[in-house]
Amino acid sequence: MPWVGGRFWWILLIILYLKTCPCTTAVASKPNFVLLLADDLGIGDIGCYGNDTIRTPNIDNLAKEGVKLTQHIAAAPICTPSRAAFLTGRYPVRSGMDFCGGYRAIFWLGGSGGLPPNETTFATMLQRQGYYTGIIGKWHQGMNCKSRNDHCHHPLSHGFNYFYGMPYTLISECQPGSPSATDAHLQSQLWFYTQVIALAVITLIAVKCIDLIEINGKVIMYFALFGLLFFLTWYLNYGFMHYWNCILMRNHEITEQPMNVQRTTSQILKEANLFIERNRNVPFLLFVSFLHVHTPLVTTKKFTGSSRHGIYGDNVEEMDSMVGAIVDAINAAGLKDNTLIYFASDHGGHLEVKNGNIQTGGWNGIYKGGKGMAGWEGGIRVPGIVRWPGVIPSNTVIDEPTSLMDIYPTVIQLGGGELPKDRIIDGRDLMPLLKNQTSQSEHEFLFHYCGMDLHAVRWHQKESGAIWKAHYMSPVFYPEGAVGCYNIQICACEGEHVARHDPPLLFDLSVDASESNPLQPYSEPQYKAVISRIELAVAEHRKTISTVPQQLSLSNIVWKPWLQPCCGTFPFCWCDKEGNDETSII
Ligand SMILES: *[C@@H]1O[C@H](CO)[C@@H](O)[C@H](O)[C@H]1NC(C)=O
Ligand SMILES: *[C@@H]1O[C@H](CO)[C@@H](O)[C@H](O)[C@H]1NC(C)=O
Repeated sequence: MPWVGGRFWWILLIILYLKTCPCTTAVASKPNFVLLLADDLGIGDIGCYGNDTIRTPNIDNLAKEGVKLTQHIAAAPICTPSRAAFLTGRYPVRSGMDFCGGYRAIFWLGGSGGLPPNETTFATMLQRQGYYTGIIGKWHQGMNCKSRNDHCHHPLSHGFNYFYGMPYTLISECQPGSPSATDAHLQSQLWFYTQVIALAVITLIAVKCIDLIEINGKVIMYFALFGLLFFLTWYLNYGFMHYWNCILMRNHEITEQPMNVQRTTSQILKEANLFIERNRNVPFLLFVSFLHVHTPLVTTKKFTGSSRHGIYGDNVEEMDSMVGAIVDAINAAGLKDNTLIYFASDHGGHLEVKNGNIQTGGWNGIYKGGKGMAGWEGGIRVPGIVRWPGVIPSNTVIDEPTSLMDIYPTVIQLGGGELPKDRIIDGRDLMPLLKNQTSQSEHEFLFHYCGMDLHAVRWHQKESGAIWKAHYMSPVFYPEGAVGCYNIQICACEGEHVARHDPPLLFDLSVDASESNPLQPYSEPQYKAVISRIELAVAEHRKTISTVPQQLSLSNIVWKPWLQPCCGTFPFCWCDKEGNDETSII
């Protein structure tokens, strides 16, 4: 009967509709975003990336419940530019946030360089879509432009509703008494000259006063002067950094100057939990930018001595537990299915940091090179994990090239927004890849800059599946045969510190991921064709780069007393508004 048939089709349609309905509503309501970014963590430091002796069960679990990206690439091998690219979805050369005249990162909170006010972060875009946006942890994108409290580069001027954390980055000087390998040389030089000057002053005054030797007051004065120089030496080396850079802020207010690093971990966790609790009923973006696992590897008692890899391993395992606590908070708030969680590192592990003979930087697995080395994989290939139950598959591995810059378009579009049209965005939406709607990444070429210089280019040749990588320049390692620049602690990008390769060094990462056997122009039949295709892409890419103000120029980078964030009346800057609450240590 036609009537029965009609009803049958109606029922079938309704069933089909009901079946697809939950998915459509899940996508229609705005998801939350929790972005977890580690500092200086190597891809080889994580269990699910092949490390069988370090314990990272919480990060591994994210991968089990989501997608693990194995070719996730940072836009720069060092903090400030990599984070600028992450926040803006653009290569750091576009925002002027990269190496210039010797400086590759922001050195002083009292400098004037930083993420330019006309750059639009994903936080700005999501805020416009009704998101409540927060960053907890490290910023390292500058502070002021012209006056002490103009906060032109501050997170709240870049789309974040809430900020708690370090406007700068963790450094050895933040932890009194920690060995600072990088400064040891400078320190001994300063100390030497201080002694010479002190001796000269003493001798001069002694000669002048040779016949007044019985006056004791002067002798006291020499000692006082000597003491002052002694103090200044210490201050310039250690105290200066400690007081001016190691501070914590809540929004625009400085809460600790200098900060007490021993309790920062528990404060960051507490803040992340409170943020989730406060905003559980509105769409939110939470960017937790860990101070872990950057030196001086501040680790609480609970994790000290817990790992099989010394203080570095302890610190990694502590960070993993923080990841677990944040994921638990999301699940406990009932937000599991409506929250995209992302985990990555800003760049590769730092090979050159050592404490005596013990390596205290990260491990980049089979990949060559590390922090500071843009061309080599170890500096830029980082862990990348995305979990969003019900929307993207679980326990899935994606080997396609992806970039940290991809988070930008991904979250903006999921939040219902559109990408800015007045500028080039280098990131690509990750969702088609994550949802298995496509098997190929949109990144045909990725450009690996070291500061302003293009050191290498990656070409994902889609038809063949090859991942070609051509190196035009690479750092000169020291000592010979080592991987790393142990003479200068972090490899430089230009001048005599790099070797130029003409013809370029070529690797196919799909068969030689550790970049150990360069393909030879005379024996590799495709060499010429590959290099000329890459050259064409470089020429196209260069056309899109325009000259912008250099944020890390000498004049922007130097310490300017009038820009120094100060809790109190400059130069008397110190405060502790958190009290001595150490009860909530994890
Ligand atoms: C695991 O990580 C530690 C710490 O970085 C490292 O020393 C070790 O070599 C890694 N092990 C493997 C198998 O990658
Ligand atoms: C931001 O301003 C600088 C300096 O005026 C300019 O060169 C740059 O192109 C601007 N960037 C954007 C994205 O508008």
